[in-house]
Amino acid sequence: MRMSVIGTGYLGATHAACMAELGHEVIGVDVDESKIALLSDGKVPFYEPGLPEILERNLTEGRLRFSTDYREAAEYANVHFLGVGTPQQRGSYAADLTYVRDTIATLVPLLKGDHLILGKSTVPVGTAAELQDLADLLAPEGTTVEIAWNPEFLRESHGVDDTIHPDRIVVGLRDGSPAEPTVREIYASQLAEGIPFLVTDRQTAELVKVSANSFLATKISFINAVAELCEASGADVVALADAIGHDDRIGRKFLGAGLGFGGGCLPKDIRAFMARAGELGADQALSFLREVDTINMRQRDRVVQFAKDTFGGSLLGHRVTVLGAAFKANSDDVRDSPALNVAGQLSLSGAAVSVFDPQAMANARKVFPTLTYADSLTDALSGAELVILATEWQEFRDMDPQEVGKVVDKPNIIDARNVLDPVQWRDAGWNIRAMGRTLS
Ligand SMILES: NC(=O)c1ccc[n+]([C@@H]2O[C@H](COP(=O)([O-])OP(=O)(O)OC[C@H]3O[C@@H](n4cnc5c(N)ncnc54)[C@H](O)[C@@H]3O)[C@@H](O)[C@H]2O)c1
Repeated sequence: MRMSVIGTGYLGATHAACMAELGHEVIGVDVDESKIALLSDGKVPFYEPGLPEILERNLTEGRLRFSTDYREAAEYANVHFLGVGTPQQRGSYAADLTYVRDTIATLVPLLKGDHLILGKSTVPVGTAAELQDLADLLAPEGTTVEIAWNPEFLRESHGVDDTIHPDRIVVGLRDGSPAEPTVREIYASQLAEGIPFLVTDRQTAELVKVSANSFLATKISFINAVAELCEASGADVVALADAIGHDDRIGRKFLGAGLGFGGGCLPKDIRAFMARAGELGADQALSFLREVDTINMRQRDRVVQFAKDTFGGSLLGHRVTVLGAAFKANSDDVRDSPALNVAGQLSLSGAAVSVFDPQAMANARKVFPTLTYADSLTDALSGAELVILATEWQEFRDMDPQEVGKVVDKPNIIDARNVLDPVQWRDAGWNIRAMGRTLS
């Protein structure tokens, strides 16, 4: 099938390349000229394992191309995926729908014939209906535009596999919508694999996405709250999470106590969910998410406090190395990154902070140009009085405490992701502190 993908960021570029990989003919459109130039040249503008190979292959085989011109998308395809950003509004918890509305306002007047727009961006409930009204208003005479919502569940760093083999496909249609057969055709190979296909109304599909993210955020904040209790009572949150995780109603995933969640989705999605609940007069229903958010943000302050404790209360002049800048491992995404937040707070508290990340250095520099960025892990560790493991990259998990001990000035480490073996580090002479663990 022919299709366009509007918005070629983390979601859209991955989706466009993966749809081509499934055999479709795809054009990706973005307003960012530099991004389109890179993609057209076979270069992924961000770090996503496996994506460069798929991009390259499908460009070469002629199933994939990119453009900044909406007219090309309008003429090329009758199916359009919408994957533009929906960031948090400045000064509000609500989602900023400017880019989503702009896409409809630009694309729809250019369309001729019958078109389907499948929304992938994460949006507040009611957005699809609002966009349908806008599309009906702007569609040229004789043109029909159907808007349906097909939320995206990909995880950055697993984006390719999650797009090609999703654990479910959800599509929200309005009453009487003719779109279901087209959606089934798009995802035919996945449906043949037996991947669950759920057809709902539009508002349920919109809510599925924010509910899933809110649940995951709640699970992380739950274990982080328990971690605080573990510290206060001399217990161990890792052993506790292992024990409760054996209950298959609970599960071990997302029970990693540590520095908490960040990135371009979870923080803004739970806030937008609360804001929308308020607009709908149901704000009390989601007030617990405010606490989820607060617990999450508190982890960043707690790590900074641990760092201060290491030096008797003041960070002034102390050399601290922060390992990690991306919001999670195997990504270069620094949007609302807990690691960078901690690095920034330490710097503002007077520490001399050195940051190293295997992939996110360029993005980190743009957000926090005043921090010092090391050229390598060894360079970052050299002369440190305190090391903070803030993003769980394998390279950091694999560090040898004996070797690292030879490079640093003082053997102090905070494992803010609970990925190191504390006994091994302590036996190597380190003073190690970890979130929610009593290591005496
Ligand atoms: N990143 C993820 O893992 C992920 C997963 C699921 C859902 N989502 C959702 O997908 C959406 C996009 O997220 P992202 O992480 O890809 O964001 P992103 O910032 O990486 O990409 C958004 C892209 O949209 C482009 N854009 C903005 N306005 C445009 C316009 N009018 N026309 C064409 N392009 C335009 C931007 O230039 C940018 O390249 C968000 O709603 C997000 O919540 C993201």
